[in-house]
Amino acid sequence: MYNLLKGKRGIIFGALDKKSMAWRIAERAVEEGARVTLSNTAMAIRFGNVKELAEELGTQVIPADATNIEDLENVYTQSMELLGGKIDFVLHSIGMSMNIRKNKPYTEVGYDFYMKTLDISAVSFHKIIQAAHNLDAMNEWGSFVAITYIAAQRTFDKYNDMADAKALLESIARSWGYYYGKEKKVRVNTVSQSPTPTTAGQGIEGFNVFFEYAEKMSPLGNADSNELADYVVTLFSDLTRKVTMQNLFHDGGFSSMGMSEELMKQFLKK
Ligand code: NAI
Repeated sequence: MYNLLKGKRGIIFGALDKKSMAWRIAERAVEEGARVTLSNTAMAIRFGNVKELAEELGTQVIPADATNIEDLENVYTQSMELLGGKIDFVLHSIGMSMNIRKNKPYTEVGYDFYMKTLDISAVSFHKIIQAAHNLDAMNEWGSFVAITYIAAQRTFDKYNDMADAKALLESIARSWGYYYGKEKKVRVNTVSQSPTPTTAGQGIEGFNVFFEYAEKMSPLGNADSNELADYVVTLFSDLTRKVTMQNLFHDGGFSSMGMSEELMKQFLKK
């Protein structure tokens, strides 16, 4: 505990259950002295456990479909009321692909599904930032963070249309980072996380292989949700005021690797 977020107000999008990365980030932000509100879809609130988290953190869950700008504006209005002022940080930890859910391979995607993937997993970040901008809801030096994956830069079999969504997500961080930075000194970054066993993660076919491969490739091993929460808290804090428009790898070194001893040994055995 370092009191890194003492007195700050935040909004956490995307906590569904205890495995969710947003869950741990919300807890960690509060441990560091912040007050937060939580948001998820009405359906996720009904079927997940986010109300439990709200109770634990002494806060409320505000329902919103992250593809709907009015819902999002309502999240800011209510959060500012509940927390008593403008917002300092926002986490976007949202992703969904109907093509993956319905086992449609990348070469045969349905385009209604594809557009939905982009809307829910990427354009929603634009909308979350634009809703704040419309209401002038952010304090100066505020910070937006979205969680992304290295499939934005490199091709991973089975990651499907989520790869395209992540590329768009990272581009939105750069574009909004420029405009919001100039206007209000607000930062916008994405954090590219190791494979992590969550509901969304485990929805990817062959998730265990993604996980094991990255674990063996990375000199420090995969980063888990606790470590992600530690990192994201620094990005919400005043210690990283000049970090913006970046995609930051939080992956134990995976993104710089080509071949590791562990993987080499595994292939030599065969
Ligand atoms: P999760 O399943 O716990 O979280 C995904 C969240 O998105 C859920 O809370 C869900 O209700 C929410 N969501 C879906 N549709 C929504 C909508 N229309 N409006 C608002 N919220 C909506 O899984 P996880 O892994 O914590 O996912 C968080 C983020 O991390 C996602 O962007 C995911 O792509 C990303 N990520 C996950 C990795 C992994 O291996 N699990 C690795 C790298 C990035």
